Amino acid sequence: MITPNSSAPDGANSVLEIWGRHSLSGQVQISGAKNSALVVMAGALLCSQDCRIRNIPSLVDVARMGEVLLALGVKVEHSNDTLTIDSTHLSHSRAPYELVSQLRASFFVIGPLLARLGVARVPLPGGCAIGARPVDLHVRGLRAMGAEVHIDHGTVHACVRGSRGRLQGARIYLDYPSVGATETLMMAATLADGETIIENAAQEPEVVDLANFCRAMGARIRGAGTNTITISGVPSLHSTDYSIIPDRIEAGTFLIAAAITGSEITLSPVIPDHLTAVIAKLREAGAEIIPEVHNRLRIKAGPQILATDTQTRPFPGFPTDMQAQFMALMTLSNGNSMITETVFENRLRHVGELVRMGADIRMKGNCAIVRGVPCLAGAPVTATDLRASAALVIAGLAAEGKTQIQGLQHLDRGYDNLEHKLQQLGAKLQRIQAETTDEVAQPAEATVTTAAGE
Ligand code: EPU
Repeated sequence: MITPNSSAPDGANSVLEIWGRHSLSGQVQISGAKNSALVVMAGALLCSQDCRIRNIPSLVDVARMGEVLLALGVKVEHSNDTLTIDSTHLSHSRAPYELVSQLRASFFVIGPLLARLGVARVPLPGGCAIGARPVDLHVRGLRAMGAEVHIDHGTVHACVRGSRGRLQGARIYLDYPSVGATETLMMAATLADGETIIENAAQEPEVVDLANFCRAMGARIRGAGTNTITISGVPSLHSTDYSIIPDRIEAGTFLIAAAITGSEITLSPVIPDHLTAVIAKLREAGAEIIPEVHNRLRIKAGPQILATDTQTRPFPGFPTDMQAQFMALMTLSNGNSMITETVFENRLRHVGELVRMGADIRMKGNCAIVRGVPCLAGAPVTATDLRASAALVIAGLAAEGKTQIQGLQHLDRGYDNLEHKLQQLGAKLQRIQAETTDEVAQPAEATVTTAAGE
């Protein structure tokens, strides 16, 4: 069984207290990428032998994905940062609603299930804190590959008739370069009959990591990391030992934590090419960022934070998963900046919480206009989603006085030991039981999220 390695109270019942305005120094270790780990775990279902996956971060989401695999009849063993997944006896084609509803990424098992078993029944993951998040592109692509797909009582039923239950290669154009749809279709195509071409594919590093993992199992995939991916189906895949990439979003979060606290820190391991847009924006904002040997990156904050406009885009554009953290930085900039979210329709809910801490931010549709203020003030605040929680931690590190963050179940889904790592860099923070605090906040929009996690 997989358990995140924190001994702290669980996220829903705890509060993170941060005493701000302490600078950070030293080196921080970046964990494996959450969004690679989750999809590579699904990808391991494609192999009818066991696979070893290393550099797995210790996260609630990874534990939940492990439960989904167990429910499908797969063996999952966890030791330190390594998972061994044995899908020899993959037998169940139905993913349980209770688990899929807690973790959107578990919908990704649909591609491997269909490829291995010729049938898959996966509940619709539903919307979540950041948007409606339909799966129409996944479904359309699977249909193009010959699957019969219908949605009944909230569940996607997919099956392959004829061709001995094997999907057929197809040419698929994605209306939007969706990360999840690209991953689903790439996995499904690895065992299909013939060649599949995915056009307008997502180019995110996690897509490339999944392609590399599949290749390590014997899949034939070309073009991952460009907008056209070609997959030549093979009859079966073999066991492998694979290490996933470092988490570029965790690294970006630490870069911004350093920039906002006027600090100098180093991060490793980091693949700077995965952070091109984030590094460019941080340089525009006045920070000095120096790539060093051995996948290490050094950041020296500038004397002041310079106001910079940002728009989120699919990779290689500025990542939506860094938008909230960058907004926290801009709240203390020397001028006005405009932050535009284009990937998800509801990913600005942290604005109200940052305003609670003294930020000056106005919303106009999917844009936030941030007027830099001289200082933020610690306050009780509530995290509304994973990256919003990171933005509040960043704001708390820079604020005067004490910030109390609740809604930490979001943080625990996606950051491996964030508090411990920040403490090691010199930040002053601690997690305590919720009932021992004297104040708790409701999110600024008074809407508490209970839907599927990001
Ligand atoms: N979309 C559709 N139809 C589809 C699929 C997507 O309209 O069939 C839309 C979505 O509604 C959204 C846009 O396309 O507006 C982008 O969605 P995408 O499919 O690219 O995102 P995802 O695969 O659902 C992954 C990450 C997210 C990350 C996005 C974008 C995982 C498990 N999740 O989601 O990570 O924000 O790509 O880079 O890989 C996070 O880690 O905090 C997080 C939310």
